Amino acid sequence: METETRVLPPTEEALELAAALLRQGELVAFPTETVYGLGANALDPQAVLRIFAAKGRPADNPLIVHIWDKAQLADLCEVSADAEKLMDACWPGPLTILCPKKALVPDEVTAGLPSVGIRMPSHPAARAMLRRCGLPVAAPSANLSTRPSPTTAAHVLEDMNGRIPLILDGGPCEVGLESTVLDMTGDMPVVLRPGAVTPEMIRDIVGSVRVADSVMRPLREGEAAPSPGMKHKHYAPRGHLTILKGKREDVIREIIRRYDASENAVILASTGNVPAYGGRRVMDMGPDLSAAAHNLFSLLRRADGLGIARLYAEAVSDGGVGLAVMNRMARAAGFDIEEAGTEGLPSCPPQTE
Ligand code: TXA
Ligand code: MG
Repeated sequence: METETRVLPPTEEALELAAALLRQGELVAFPTETVYGLGANALDPQAVLRIFAAKGRPADNPLIVHIWDKAQLADLCEVSADAEKLMDACWPGPLTILCPKKALVPDEVTAGLPSVGIRMPSHPAARAMLRRCGLPVAAPSANLSTRPSPTTAAHVLEDMNGRIPLILDGGPCEVGLESTVLDMTGDMPVVLRPGAVTPEMIRDIVGSVRVADSVMRPLREGEAAPSPGMKHKHYAPRGHLTILKGKREDVIREIIRRYDASENAVILASTGNVPAYGGRRVMDMGPDLSAAAHNLFSLLRRADGLGIARLYAEAVSDGGVGLAVMNRMARAAGFDIEEAGTEGLPSCPPQTE
Protein backbone atom coordinates (compact mmCIF):
# COMPACT_ATOMS: atom_id res chain seq x y z
CA MET A 1 0.00 0.00 0.00
CA GLU A 2 1.20 3.53 -0.79
CA THR A 3 2.22 5.79 2.09
CA GLU A 4 1.22 9.45 2.00
CA THR A 5 4.42 11.52 1.84
CA ARG A 6 4.34 14.80 3.75
CA VAL A 7 6.82 17.60 2.96
CA LEU A 8 7.28 19.93 5.95
CA PRO A 9 9.70 22.71 6.85
CA PRO A 10 11.80 21.81 9.92
CA THR A 11 9.58 23.46 12.56
CA GLU A 12 9.56 22.20 16.15
CA GLU A 13 6.49 20.06 15.43
CA ALA A 14 7.93 18.62 12.22
CA LEU A 15 11.21 17.77 13.98
CA GLU A 16 9.24 16.09 16.77
CA LEU A 17 7.29 14.09 14.17
CA ALA A 18 10.56 13.11 12.43
CA ALA A 19 12.08 11.95 15.72
CA ALA A 20 8.95 9.93 16.57
CA LEU A 21 8.90 8.26 13.13
CA LEU A 22 12.59 7.34 13.43
CA ARG A 23 12.03 5.86 16.90
CA GLN A 24 9.18 3.76 15.43
CA GLY A 25 11.47 2.33 12.75
CA GLU A 26 10.11 4.52 9.91
CA LEU A 27 12.07 6.41 7.25
CA VAL A 28 12.54 10.19 7.18
CA ALA A 29 14.26 12.20 4.44
CA PHE A 30 16.20 15.17 5.79
CA PRO A 31 18.46 17.95 4.50
CA THR A 32 22.20 17.97 5.09
CA GLU A 33 24.82 20.44 3.84
CA THR A 34 25.83 17.92 1.12
CA VAL A 35 22.67 16.23 -0.25
CA TYR A 36 19.36 15.03 1.24
CA GLY A 37 19.59 11.82 3.27
CA LEU A 38 17.08 8.99 3.70
CA GLY A 39 17.33 8.18 7.40
CA ALA A 40 16.44 5.24 9.63
CA ASN A 41 17.41 4.13 13.15
CA ALA A 42 20.90 2.68 12.55
CA LEU A 43 20.51 0.23 15.44
CA ASP A 44 17.30 -1.35 14.10
CA PRO A 45 18.00 -3.87 11.28
CA GLN A 46 14.34 -3.88 10.12
CA ALA A 47 14.32 -0.09 9.80
CA VAL A 48 17.63 -0.18 7.92
CA LEU A 49 16.29 -2.78 5.47
CA ARG A 50 13.43 -0.38 4.63
CA ILE A 51 16.01 2.08 3.28
CA PHE A 52 17.30 -0.50 0.80
CA ALA A 53 13.74 -1.32 -0.27
CA ALA A 54 12.69 2.34 -0.73
CA LYS A 55 15.77 3.17 -2.84
CA GLY A 56 16.07 -0.09 -4.75
CA ARG A 57 19.63 -0.16 -3.41
CA PRO A 58 21.85 -3.26 -3.75
CA ALA A 59 22.22 -4.86 -0.29
CA ASP A 60 26.02 -5.00 -0.59
CA ASN A 61 26.36 -1.19 -0.52
CA PRO A 62 26.91 -0.01 3.08
CA LEU A 63 25.28 3.05 4.69
CA ILE A 64 26.77 6.03 6.51
CA VAL A 65 25.77 6.55 10.15
CA HIS A 66 24.94 10.13 11.15
CA ILE A 67 25.50 11.48 14.66
CA TRP A 68 25.21 14.92 16.26
CA ASP A 69 27.54 14.39 19.26
CA LYS A 70 30.92 12.66 19.52
CA ALA A 71 29.71 10.95 22.72
CA GLN A 72 27.64 8.66 20.45
CA LEU A 73 30.85 7.20 18.97
CA ALA A 74 31.58 5.06 22.04
CA ASP A 75 28.88 2.53 21.03
CA LEU A 76 29.62 2.58 17.32
CA CYS A 77 33.32 2.32 16.46
CA GLU A 78 36.99 2.46 17.46
CA VAL A 79 38.51 5.90 16.93
CA SER A 80 42.24 6.22 16.25
CA ALA A 81 44.19 9.34 17.26
CA ASP A 82 44.33 10.53 13.63
CA ALA A 83 40.62 9.88 13.10
CA GLU A 84 39.93 11.98 16.16
CA LYS A 85 42.07 14.83 14.81
CA LEU A 86 40.03 14.79 11.59
CA MET A 87 36.76 14.77 13.51
CA ASP A 88 37.86 17.74 15.60
CA ALA A 89 38.99 19.69 12.53
CA CYS A 90 36.18 18.85 10.07
CA TRP A 91 33.04 18.05 12.09
CA PRO A 92 30.32 19.02 11.88
CA GLY A 93 30.82 18.98 8.12
CA PRO A 94 31.03 16.99 4.87
CA LEU A 95 33.53 14.30 5.92
CA THR A 96 32.63 10.61 6.46
CA ILE A 97 35.26 8.64 8.34
CA LEU A 98 35.48 4.83 8.10
CA CYS A 99 36.48 3.29 11.44
CA PRO A 100 36.49 -0.31 12.75
CA LYS A 101 32.90 -1.00 13.81
CA LYS A 102 31.65 -2.24 17.18
CA ALA A 103 29.20 -5.12 17.62
CA LEU A 104 26.19 -2.87 18.26
CA VAL A 105 26.20 -1.70 14.61
CA PRO A 106 24.11 -4.21 12.64
CA ASP A 107 25.59 -5.93 9.58
CA GLU A 108 22.67 -4.54 7.58
CA VAL A 109 24.25 -1.07 7.93
CA THR A 110 27.78 -2.02 6.92
CA ALA A 111 26.83 -4.73 4.41
CA GLY A 112 28.84 -7.13 6.53
CA LEU A 113 32.05 -5.06 6.39
CA PRO A 114 34.19 -4.70 9.52
CA SER A 115 34.21 -0.88 9.21
CA VAL A 116 31.46 1.69 9.60
CA GLY A 117 31.28 5.15 7.97
CA ILE A 118 30.42 7.91 10.45
CA ARG A 119 29.55 11.49 9.75
CA MET A 120 28.39 14.51 11.77
CA PRO A 121 26.44 16.77 9.40
CA SER A 122 26.43 20.53 9.95
CA HIS A 123 22.96 21.37 8.60
CA PRO A 124 20.93 22.79 11.52
CA ALA A 125 17.81 20.76 10.64
CA ALA A 126 19.84 17.53 10.48
CA ARG A 127 21.48 18.31 13.81
CA ALA A 128 18.15 19.16 15.44
CA MET A 129 16.54 15.96 14.14
CA LEU A 130 19.47 13.79 15.29
CA ARG A 131 19.49 15.37 18.73
CA ARG A 132 15.74 14.96 19.20
CA CYS A 133 15.56 11.32 18.20
CA GLY A 134 18.65 10.50 20.28
CA LEU A 135 19.66 7.75 17.84
CA PRO A 136 22.47 7.23 15.37
CA VAL A 137 20.76 7.52 11.96
CA ALA A 138 21.84 5.45 8.97
CA ALA A 139 21.27 7.42 5.78
CA PRO A 140 22.27 7.13 2.15
CA SER A 141 21.40 9.90 -0.31
CA ALA A 142 17.59 10.08 -0.65
CA ASN A 143 17.43 9.23 -4.38
CA LEU A 144 16.29 6.09 -6.12
CA SER A 145 19.38 3.97 -6.73
CA THR A 146 21.35 5.14 -9.86
CA ARG A 147 19.60 8.55 -10.07
CA PRO A 148 21.50 11.77 -9.26
CA SER A 149 21.51 12.56 -5.52
CA PRO A 150 18.78 14.99 -4.42
CA THR A 151 19.79 18.52 -3.45
CA THR A 152 16.26 19.88 -2.86
CA ALA A 153 13.15 18.49 -1.16
CA ALA A 154 11.43 18.54 -4.58
CA HIS A 155 14.09 16.13 -5.91
CA VAL A 156 13.44 13.80 -2.98
CA LEU A 157 9.70 13.93 -3.60
CA GLU A 158 10.28 13.06 -7.29
CA ASP A 159 11.92 9.78 -6.23
CA MET A 160 10.29 8.95 -2.89
CA ASN A 161 6.66 10.06 -3.22
CA GLY A 162 4.44 7.29 -1.81
CA ARG A 163 7.46 5.40 -0.41
CA ILE A 164 8.17 7.30 2.83
CA PRO A 165 6.01 9.23 5.33
CA LEU A 166 8.05 12.45 5.74
CA ILE A 167 10.47 14.76 3.96
CA LEU A 168 11.92 17.63 5.99
CA ASP A 169 12.38 20.56 3.61
CA GLY A 170 15.45 22.58 4.57
CA GLY A 171 15.91 24.29 1.20
CA PRO A 172 18.67 23.62 -1.34
CA CYS A 173 21.82 21.87 -0.03
CA GLU A 174 24.81 24.15 0.14
CA VAL A 175 27.59 21.83 -1.08
CA GLY A 176 25.50 19.85 -3.58
CA LEU A 177 27.79 16.75 -3.71
CA GLU A 178 28.00 13.95 -1.16
CA SER A 179 30.56 13.93 1.66
CA THR A 180 34.18 12.91 1.28
CA VAL A 181 34.52 9.23 2.28
CA LEU A 182 37.86 8.64 4.02
CA ASP A 183 39.08 5.20 5.05
CA MET A 184 40.95 5.48 8.38
CA THR A 185 41.23 1.74 9.03
CA GLY A 186 44.61 1.19 7.34
CA ASP A 187 48.15 2.56 7.64
CA MET A 188 47.41 5.60 5.54
CA PRO A 189 44.18 7.63 5.14
CA VAL A 190 42.59 6.81 1.77
CA VAL A 191 39.97 8.95 0.03
CA LEU A 192 37.41 6.53 -1.43
CA ARG A 193 35.03 9.25 -2.59
CA PRO A 194 36.16 12.86 -3.02
CA GLY A 195 34.00 15.69 -1.64
CA ALA A 196 34.17 19.20 -0.23
CA VAL A 197 36.79 18.14 2.33
CA THR A 198 39.70 17.86 -0.10
CA PRO A 199 42.81 15.63 0.01
CA GLU A 200 44.87 18.82 0.54
CA MET A 201 42.83 19.65 3.68
CA ILE A 202 43.20 16.10 5.01
CA ARG A 203 46.95 16.12 4.44
CA ASP A 204 47.23 19.38 6.37
CA ILE A 205 45.50 17.76 9.37
CA VAL A 206 47.09 14.28 9.53
CA GLY A 207 50.21 14.64 7.39
CA SER A 208 49.45 12.11 4.67
CA VAL A 209 46.65 10.93 2.39
CA ARG A 210 46.17 8.83 -0.72
CA VAL A 211 43.33 9.05 -3.24
CA ALA A 212 42.08 5.60 -4.36
CA ASP A 213 42.89 5.28 -8.09
CA SER A 214 39.41 4.02 -8.82
CA VAL A 215 38.16 7.56 -8.07
CA MET A 216 38.89 8.66 -11.63
CA ARG A 217 38.61 5.48 -13.67
CA PRO A 218 36.19 2.58 -13.99
CA LEU A 219 36.99 -0.58 -12.04
CA ARG A 220 38.80 -3.17 -14.11
CA GLU A 221 37.16 -6.50 -14.82
CA GLY A 222 37.44 -8.61 -11.65
CA GLU A 223 39.02 -5.77 -9.60
CA ALA A 224 37.84 -5.60 -5.96
CA ALA A 225 36.13 -2.29 -5.12
CA PRO A 226 37.72 -0.55 -2.08
CA SER A 227 34.25 0.90 -1.49
CA PRO A 228 31.20 -1.02 -2.71
CA GLY A 229 29.67 2.27 -3.95
CA MET A 230 32.35 2.41 -6.66
CA LYS A 231 31.16 -0.62 -8.52
CA HIS A 232 27.55 0.44 -8.84
CA LYS A 233 26.19 2.71 -11.55
CA HIS A 234 25.73 6.17 -10.10
CA TYR A 235 24.49 9.69 -10.62
CA ALA A 236 23.43 8.94 -14.17
CA PRO A 237 21.12 11.17 -16.19
CA ARG A 238 18.85 9.32 -18.62
CA GLY A 239 20.58 10.85 -21.66
CA HIS A 240 24.13 10.00 -22.71
CA LEU A 241 26.74 12.38 -21.28
CA THR A 242 30.15 12.99 -22.85
CA ILE A 243 32.82 15.09 -21.10
CA LEU A 244 35.24 17.06 -23.25
CA LYS A 245 38.58 18.10 -21.83
CA GLY A 246 41.51 20.08 -23.20
CA LYS A 247 42.24 23.72 -23.95
CA ARG A 248 39.23 26.03 -23.49
CA GLU A 249 38.92 26.96 -27.19
CA ASP A 250 39.36 23.34 -28.31
CA VAL A 251 36.66 22.15 -25.91
CA ILE A 252 34.17 24.79 -27.07
CA ARG A 253 34.91 24.12 -30.75
CA GLU A 254 34.58 20.35 -30.31
CA ILE A 255 31.29 20.62 -28.38
CA ILE A 256 29.85 22.92 -31.07
CA ARG A 257 30.99 20.48 -33.76
CA ARG A 258 29.21 17.57 -32.06
CA TYR A 259 26.11 19.36 -30.82
CA ASP A 260 23.04 18.47 -32.85
CA ALA A 261 19.80 20.17 -31.77
CA SER A 262 17.73 17.46 -33.47
CA GLU A 263 19.09 14.98 -30.92
CA ASN A 264 17.53 17.00 -28.07
CA ALA A 265 20.97 17.92 -26.76
CA VAL A 266 22.26 20.23 -24.04
CA ILE A 267 25.66 21.68 -23.14
CA LEU A 268 26.86 22.02 -19.53
CA ALA A 269 29.22 25.00 -19.55
CA SER A 270 30.91 27.28 -17.05
CA THR A 271 29.39 30.76 -16.83
CA GLY A 272 32.23 32.48 -18.70
CA ASN A 273 31.87 30.13 -21.67
CA VAL A 274 28.08 30.26 -22.04
CA PRO A 275 28.02 33.07 -24.66
CA ALA A 276 30.49 31.16 -26.85
CA TYR A 277 27.81 28.55 -27.60
CA GLY A 278 25.53 31.05 -29.37
CA GLY A 279 21.88 30.01 -29.56
CA ARG A 280 22.49 26.37 -28.60
CA ARG A 281 20.80 24.96 -25.48
CA VAL A 282 23.20 25.52 -22.59
CA MET A 283 22.93 24.90 -18.84
CA ASP A 284 25.13 27.17 -16.76
CA MET A 285 27.26 25.24 -14.24
CA GLY A 286 28.26 28.47 -12.52
CA PRO A 287 31.36 30.65 -12.32
CA ASP A 288 33.63 28.43 -10.19
CA LEU A 289 34.15 24.92 -8.78
CA SER A 290 31.93 25.36 -5.71
CA ALA A 291 29.11 26.55 -7.94
CA ALA A 292 29.64 23.57 -10.25
CA ALA A 293 29.45 21.24 -7.22
CA HIS A 294 26.31 22.99 -6.00
CA ASN A 295 24.60 22.84 -9.42
CA LEU A 296 25.67 19.56 -11.02
CA PHE A 297 23.06 17.09 -9.71
CA SER A 298 20.29 19.63 -10.01
CA LEU A 299 21.18 20.22 -13.69
CA LEU A 300 21.32 16.49 -14.42
CA ARG A 301 17.82 16.14 -12.97
CA ARG A 302 16.61 19.14 -14.97
CA ALA A 303 17.98 17.53 -18.12
CA ASP A 304 16.02 14.37 -17.29
CA GLY A 305 12.88 16.47 -16.77
CA LEU A 306 13.32 18.00 -20.23
CA GLY A 307 13.78 14.57 -21.82
CA ILE A 308 17.34 15.43 -22.91
CA ALA A 309 18.92 12.55 -24.85
CA ARG A 310 22.47 13.89 -25.33
CA LEU A 311 24.60 15.93 -22.92
CA TYR A 312 28.03 17.49 -23.48
CA ALA A 313 29.93 18.86 -20.49
CA GLU A 314 33.10 20.87 -20.24
CA ALA A 315 35.60 19.16 -17.92
CA VAL A 316 36.58 21.19 -14.86
CA SER A 317 39.99 21.35 -13.20
CA ASP A 318 40.52 18.53 -10.70
CA GLY A 319 42.12 20.66 -7.95
CA GLY A 320 40.31 21.20 -4.63
CA VAL A 321 36.60 20.38 -4.83
CA GLY A 322 37.08 20.00 -8.62
CA LEU A 323 38.18 16.40 -8.01
CA ALA A 324 34.74 15.66 -6.53
CA VAL A 325 32.96 17.41 -9.40
CA MET A 326 34.98 15.47 -12.01
CA ASN A 327 34.45 12.18 -10.12
CA ARG A 328 30.65 12.60 -10.19
CA MET A 329 30.63 13.84 -13.80
CA ALA A 330 32.84 10.95 -14.91
CA ARG A 331 30.47 8.43 -13.32
CA ALA A 332 27.42 10.19 -14.73
CA ALA A 333 29.13 9.90 -18.15
CA GLY A 334 29.99 6.21 -17.66
CA PHE A 335 33.61 7.47 -18.01
CA ASP A 336 33.04 8.79 -21.54
CA ILE A 337 35.73 11.48 -21.25
CA GLU A 338 37.35 12.62 -24.47
CA GLU A 339 40.22 14.92 -25.33
CA ALA A 340 39.22 17.87 -27.56
CA GLY A 341 41.66 19.05 -30.15
CA THR A 342 43.30 15.73 -30.94
CA GLU A 343 40.61 14.19 -33.11
CA GLY A 344 40.83 15.16 -36.78
CA LEU A 345 44.56 15.92 -36.63
CA PRO A 346 46.39 14.48 -39.62
CA SER A 347 47.76 11.14 -38.51
CA CYS A 348 51.33 10.16 -39.35
CA PRO A 349 51.64 8.17 -42.55
CA PRO A 350 52.53 4.55 -41.81
CA GLN A 351 56.28 4.00 -41.70
CA THR A 352 57.67 1.89 -44.49
CA GLU A 353 60.97 0.09 -44.18
O1 TXA B 1 26.97 13.36 2.02
C1 TXA B 1 26.72 12.17 2.22
O2 TXA B 1 27.59 11.34 2.52
C2 TXA B 1 25.26 11.73 2.09
C3 TXA B 1 24.47 12.42 3.21
C4 TXA B 1 23.04 11.95 3.27
O3 TXA B 1 25.13 12.24 4.41
N1 TXA B 1 25.16 10.30 2.15
C5 TXA B 1 25.58 9.51 1.13
O4 TXA B 1 25.38 8.16 1.35
O5 TXA B 1 26.05 9.95 0.11
P1 TXA B 1 25.45 7.08 0.17
O6 TXA B 1 24.98 5.83 0.80
O7 TXA B 1 24.72 7.58 -1.00
O8 TXA B 1 26.97 6.93 -0.12
C6 TXA B 1 27.82 6.30 0.83
C7 TXA B 1 29.08 5.82 0.17
C8 TXA B 1 28.83 4.62 -0.72
O9 TXA B 1 29.63 4.76 -1.89
C9 TXA B 1 29.31 3.46 0.14
O10 TXA B 1 29.76 2.39 -0.64
C10 TXA B 1 30.43 4.10 0.94
O11 TXA B 1 30.00 5.42 1.17
N2 TXA B 1 30.62 3.44 2.25
C11 TXA B 1 29.82 3.53 3.34
N3 TXA B 1 30.27 2.74 4.33
C12 TXA B 1 31.39 2.14 3.86
C13 TXA B 1 32.32 1.19 4.40
N4 TXA B 1 32.19 0.71 5.64
N5 TXA B 1 33.36 0.80 3.62
C14 TXA B 1 33.51 1.28 2.36
N6 TXA B 1 32.67 2.18 1.81
C15 TXA B 1 31.62 2.60 2.54
MG1 MG C 1 24.14 7.81 -2.94
